[in-house]
Amino acid sequence: MQRKSCISGEYARPALHIGGVIDSKVLDFEPPPHWRVALDGPAAGGKTTVARRVAQALGYALIDTGAMYRAVALGALERGLSTGDRAAMERLAEAEASRSEFLPDLEGSQGFRLLVGGVDVTGRLHEPRVSQVVPAVAAIPGVRRVLAAQQAAIGRRGGVVMTGRDIGTVVIPDAEVKVFLTASPEERARRRYGDMHARGEAGDETPEVLQQIEQTLRERDLQDSSRDDSPLLQAPDAVLLDSTGLSLDEVVARIIDLVRTRMRTEVR
Ligand code: CDP
Repeated sequence: MQRKSCISGEYARPALHIGGVIDSKVLDFEPPPHWRVALDGPAAGGKTTVARRVAQALGYALIDTGAMYRAVALGALERGLSTGDRAAMERLAEAEASRSEFLPDLEGSQGFRLLVGGVDVTGRLHEPRVSQVVPAVAAIPGVRRVLAAQQAAIGRRGGVVMTGRDIGTVVIPDAEVKVFLTASPEERARRRYGDMHARGEAGDETPEVLQQIEQTLRERDLQDSSRDDSPLLQAPDAVLLDSTGLSLDEVVARIIDLVRTRMRTEVR
């Protein structure tokens, strides 16, 4: 069984939990307990699903930094704050960071649960209104400063798979394994449709619906890539992994392989 832990108090790594296809029989090595796997990439590239499986296989915690930005955006919407008010957004990020707990929940729908002030906000993080404003909130340097510091502190404890946009470039530039995970816009739109459908937020899968989702993803990627502070960028030493046409198992296996290869080079 996996132990529950949180990032605000004592941070215990979940006990080694192996599930799915990558199991202990396949994992022919003992992952170093304090390594960091940084997984960056554009919207709907499959980071969270892949990261959850990689974390399960390695016995690491999954930290989805997008959830932290989403929680600030959600907090702003719930309080009726203007997301354009930079000072208010920074204060909110500070207040939320000190009251938030990130609970590993690798078996759950998201792979984690995020509590703010003891309230579980996980199920609300992907509301369309949150997705709409989150890039603007995440572009505010004060908000990034607060959240990136919190994420870097988690990274220093190690034993994590951390997903985001700037993990390999800014948050954990010395991560042992860095992956930039992407997929074609069409495939990402199909995956995002699948997520939305599973949450009961999408009707029939029509070409128009997929095109609309693809357009929304492109707009978000453009916002994330063109901001001044920590834009979405592949770190020079990150491995580019295009998951178009690959199964989830294949993507997970490739990342596990990168960990294995890195361990071999460390030993030499
Ligand atoms: O899951 P999805 O790919 O839709 O995005 P996410 O990982 O939940 O991130 C939501 C938004 O948070 C992104 O579009 C970015 O604007 C922001 N973000 C960021 O700026 N830096 C990160 N490390 C993670 C997310």
